[in-house]
Amino acid sequence: MLPKINPRSTTAWQKLQKRSETLRNKKLKSWFSEDPNRGSEMSLQLEELYLDYSKNRLDRETMELLADLARECRLEAARDALFSGEPINETEGRAVMHPALRAPRNASMMVDGENVVPEVYRVLDKMERFCEAIHSGHKVGYTGKKITDVVNIGIGGSDLGAVMVTEALRAYWMEGIKPHFVSNIDGNHLFQVTRDLDPERTLFIISSKTFTTLETMTNAHSARTWFLDHAGDLSHVKDHFVAVSTNTKGVVEFGIDPQNMFEFWDWVGGRYSLSSAIGLSIALTVGFSSFRELLDGMHAMDRHFQSAPLLENMPVILGMVGVWNINFLHMDTLAVLPYNQYLHRLPAFLQQLDMESNGKSVDRNGHPVDYHTGPIVWGEAGTNGQHAFYQLIHQGTSEIPCDFIGVVDPSHPLPGHHPWLLANLIAQSRALMLGRSREEMEQSGEQVSPQVLPHKVFPGNRPSNTILMKALTPRSLGQLIALYEHKVFVQGILWNIFSFDQFGVELGKKLAVQIHPFLDKKQTDGSLDTSTNALLATIYDWQ
Ligand code: F6P
Repeated sequence: MLPKINPRSTTAWQKLQKRSETLRNKKLKSWFSEDPNRGSEMSLQLEELYLDYSKNRLDRETMELLADLARECRLEAARDALFSGEPINETEGRAVMHPALRAPRNASMMVDGENVVPEVYRVLDKMERFCEAIHSGHKVGYTGKKITDVVNIGIGGSDLGAVMVTEALRAYWMEGIKPHFVSNIDGNHLFQVTRDLDPERTLFIISSKTFTTLETMTNAHSARTWFLDHAGDLSHVKDHFVAVSTNTKGVVEFGIDPQNMFEFWDWVGGRYSLSSAIGLSIALTVGFSSFRELLDGMHAMDRHFQSAPLLENMPVILGMVGVWNINFLHMDTLAVLPYNQYLHRLPAFLQQLDMESNGKSVDRNGHPVDYHTGPIVWGEAGTNGQHAFYQLIHQGTSEIPCDFIGVVDPSHPLPGHHPWLLANLIAQSRALMLGRSREEMEQSGEQVSPQVLPHKVFPGNRPSNTILMKALTPRSLGQLIALYEHKVFVQGILWNIFSFDQFGVELGKKLAVQIHPFLDKKQTDGSLDTSTNALLATIYDWQ
């Protein structure tokens, strides 16, 4: 059982409130000029991942108070409960054991009195054999041709992590095999992906924890029709369709041989599942050994999170700094800004991870919270964002904390690009921190008319974290992913909410089931509101 402590009732919360009032007029800029060690002291490194949180509007005393808050909210006990397999997903009565997916073979991680690691390795070994068979051409399509294209059909946690990682690891793609992802129920998605594919060389992975998700099942059935339109005989399905799921019955009913099924378990949350068999499309794309390195990187972060003291613990620090920004400085969004084209799907992945986990307004006692919880997460790869929405980040009325993420070693040979990319990354967080005052403008000698001058002032004092990776490798990417997974956990504990259910996605699904027949029949039954009626009437008219 997780502790159920209202964070506002803690002594630390009250002190943090006072601290935020004391620090209200303090400028980031002055903290840096007063303290020559701030940059190096408010940063930490794990292997080749470096986190700088010094450009946040807090000082060491604030960090100590945040650590007190974490202690009063019993974060360490909650962390122990996570790693010991307690059913901390209380609303669904399940353990939350994604760290077991990347634990070493000889580890022991218990769920319901059973060590789950051997079962994890049974599936990992099966994945490895399968990848090897596809890559070597030992396993081929029904006409004997080598598989060249892998289409993952899944949505949410059964899609976003795999898309994000395959994109991030483009430099590791194996020759002769290409991944594709279909998630949207909009037929355009499947149509566009399959249009140029050869059914004789295409493998479909139907990825769904429940194997009941409307979008995935609709796409899976259409994909099978597309395949059978060419292959004709149902017996060929087994050579071209595999499943990743927890639902064996559903997989068999769909017509996939259980031999072609890669299992995972109900103690793996959808958005925490990329290190399970949901990563099969990743392993097929980059090779199993690179997938293993990704898992090892995640495990290294798991161990760090599990063992490092609170103020030397990367996920804890990232989580606590976020709580400070959200609850004490009242900044409700988080911009994720990776300065690496290959990380362009990271913001979308983190959106689900964070917002589906902590987008909650009822606490663990079942009471409405009277404080803010999960931030609105959004973002874009730098430097594209600079030419789109950074104007608002620099001069808008909303203050937006940013996570800048940079990679030191480029993974391309082109000269002249990378220093500029890194210079932009560093410059942006510095510009946000420093700003530019009216006086600085006047002293700069820049010729600006008095009318234009106020428009050129930058308030500065805007917070950010910077995460640097030496190189974008499977291992460092694994560390980055697990860093955010655990950060989300930390924040959920401090906010006294349940981070591992997602009941908020249900109502819309139910109403879609109610509305679908009205589209078929082209008439409603008078039970709907007038806006919905008018929308349906317009659709009937235009169909
Ligand atoms: O959108 C809700 C959700 O349940 C997510 O949490 C999950 O990742 C996604 O749908 C897909 O679910 P499944 O893997 O069961 O198809």
